[in-house]
Amino acid sequence: MKQGRFISLEGMDGAGKSTHLAWLADYLRARAVDFVVTREPGGTPLAETLRELLLQQDMTAETETLLMFAARREHVAKVIEPALQRGQWVISDRFADASFAYQGGGRGIPMSLLQELEAFTVKTCQPDLTLLFDVPWEVSRQRLHAGRQQNGTVQLDRFELEAQSFFERVRAAYHARAQASQGRMQVIDAARGVDEIQQDLRALMDGFCA
Ligand code: TYD
Repeated sequence: MKQGRFISLEGMDGAGKSTHLAWLADYLRARAVDFVVTREPGGTPLAETLRELLLQQDMTAETETLLMFAARREHVAKVIEPALQRGQWVISDRFADASFAYQGGGRGIPMSLLQELEAFTVKTCQPDLTLLFDVPWEVSRQRLHAGRQQNGTVQLDRFELEAQSFFERVRAAYHARAQASQGRMQVIDAARGVDEIQQDLRALMDGFCA
């Protein structure tokens, strides 16, 4: 029986997920919630190895899709479900919505196939809340480059190197999923300043935790 609660964070590369994830962790700590932070692709030693391949190696869209779901299966079985069963909350930097957006919207893999893979690997382990940090392509691009320069690296991974049209499809697929999600996915206008976004996040999380 699941006891903890499961929150995922989504958005395009450069949407500011990392900043908001740090805020969310502080918020939960202040409320004495016992939680684990994890990410996709990744979260287990095997899934982290798959992540390296996925971000760096050239591969077909079909291979990419299968590896994403293989990594996800490990993550669900070894990290997410056990934590939820122990009563911990799970905060995941990306989850299955990313496959519908990137592999479905971006790469054109049929959504029906993704649904089957989701049923096969994720089963009933769905987030209770998904925060979708939404930004126009121009904003995400600018932030991505600024962030990487600050870190002293200019190297972009295989996804970040995709064209604007790819990201427009990713964004549209995220929006479509948010609309169909019956309130599970909350779209946050992440093009605004951090303070304004965090005010919204606080209101949203106060409601979720109540
Ligand atoms: P990301 O969270 O952006 O990592 P970082 O912030 O360290 O760059 O995730 C890595 C990439 O993986 C991102 O470009 C989106 C992609 N991705 C998919 O294409 N499908 C998926 O199912 C997942 C989880 C991620």
